[in-house]
Amino acid sequence: MSGRLLLVLLLCLCVTVDSVQSQGSSQDAFIIQYLDRRLSQMEERLNQCEQKTVSATQKTYDLSSEIRGYLSTLSVLRSEVRSQMDSVSVRVDRVERELEYLENNIPAQTDIEIEEALLEQQIKAAEVDQLQRKATIQVENDCRMVLSQIKSLKIVKKAGDTYGTWFKDPTKGSTKVYMLSGIRNNTLLEYASVHSFTERTTTPPVKVVELPSYWQGTGQVVYNGFLYYHKADTPNQILKVDLLNGTLVDSTLLPGAGRLPVYSLNPNTYLNLAVDELGLWVIHADPEYGGNLVITKLDKASLAVEYTWDTQCRSQDAEGAFLICGTLYVVYNTRYGGRSTVQCLYDIHDTIHSDESPVMFFPKRYTSHSSIHYHPGDKQLYAWDDGYQTIYKVETGRSDQVLEE
Ligand SMILES: *[C@@H]1O[C@H](CO)[C@@H](O)[C@H](O)[C@H]1NC(C)=O
Ligand SMILES: *[C@@H]1O[C@H](CO)[C@@H](O)[C@H](O)[C@H]1NC(C)=O
Repeated sequence: MSGRLLLVLLLCLCVTVDSVQSQGSSQDAFIIQYLDRRLSQMEERLNQCEQKTVSATQKTYDLSSEIRGYLSTLSVLRSEVRSQMDSVSVRVDRVERELEYLENNIPAQTDIEIEEALLEQQIKAAEVDQLQRKATIQVENDCRMVLSQIKSLKIVKKAGDTYGTWFKDPTKGSTKVYMLSGIRNNTLLEYASVHSFTERTTTPPVKVVELPSYWQGTGQVVYNGFLYYHKADTPNQILKVDLLNGTLVDSTLLPGAGRLPVYSLNPNTYLNLAVDELGLWVIHADPEYGGNLVITKLDKASLAVEYTWDTQCRSQDAEGAFLICGTLYVVYNTRYGGRSTVQCLYDIHDTIHSDESPVMFFPKRYTSHSSIHYHPGDKQLYAWDDGYQTIYKVETGRSDQVLEE
């Protein structure tokens, strides 16, 4: 009985062990499979990580090479800017040197010789003729004033285009100020005074005058409430317009004018009108006279030509001119905008001469003037300097004393 029982027990045990064993091995397999899966997942992730690292490294590399590229472009740009600045400073230096040279060599411009004797004779004959006819010109008042110095500069405003003109009506008692911006337009602005011109808020308001036709250049003047100007798209037509109502009063053609800009540095101005103590003038350049300046006295009422003088002042490198008591003063500069100088003058009375007069310098500032107007009452020049409206005070002396200096 106990033997049978033992056998049964053993059998049982065997069966149990067997079943445990077979259960254990299937669990192992499961675990191994699981671990295997996990391992391969981890490997996969590791792989991905590696790829990501590689691509990140690639990206970093790309970025850094891009940055390097930018940096080299930047350094190229920087050296370009530096070289441009160098060239600008070379140019400034050159202008400075030219000026220094000029300042040290005053008066060194007497050695302009006219080669052909014939031409010289002709000019002499013309001068004699002029002298004779000049004597017949009635000088309206005793005017013996000459420019001795351009004293100070005042910048009063910045308005309008690069080119333009502004001035005060030179009529006695008038305070009106006019501004004509640009080289071609038909709209003129009128202000009650210099004060209201410089005020930011214009009180009383600006008067806007529409002209019957466009102007050309920057050579306009106002005299006694009339605007005198070069009509656009004509070579040499001068109009006179009443500024009270903008109506055309008169017009004339200036013989021989309009074929050359008056001043080579202001290529859009062909006729430059001017007012001085003696009245209304036009300045132009004559190609048949070597491009030299010619001045014409006009009757301000009828626009009739009173007389014309050929001057020895050249238009080359000139930027403007003005008249004081019948003497033309021509202002020269360089193409780059340097320091303006009066280097040539022409006196219709023949009492002062260019070769005896010193070169006169404008106050030290690098400029280029598109217009310069003298005001006989104020003894001031109203100038347009690259979009800035400026005033120069001038000092005058008597022409009979200048020669003794
Ligand atoms: C003419 O001048 C007026 C006023 O200064 C300005 O508003 C206008 O744009 C100018 N016209 C042209 C064609 O320049
Ligand atoms: C313009 O004003 C002037 C002077 O006041 C006058 O003589 C002229 O008749 C006026 N013209 C017109 C068209 O109103």
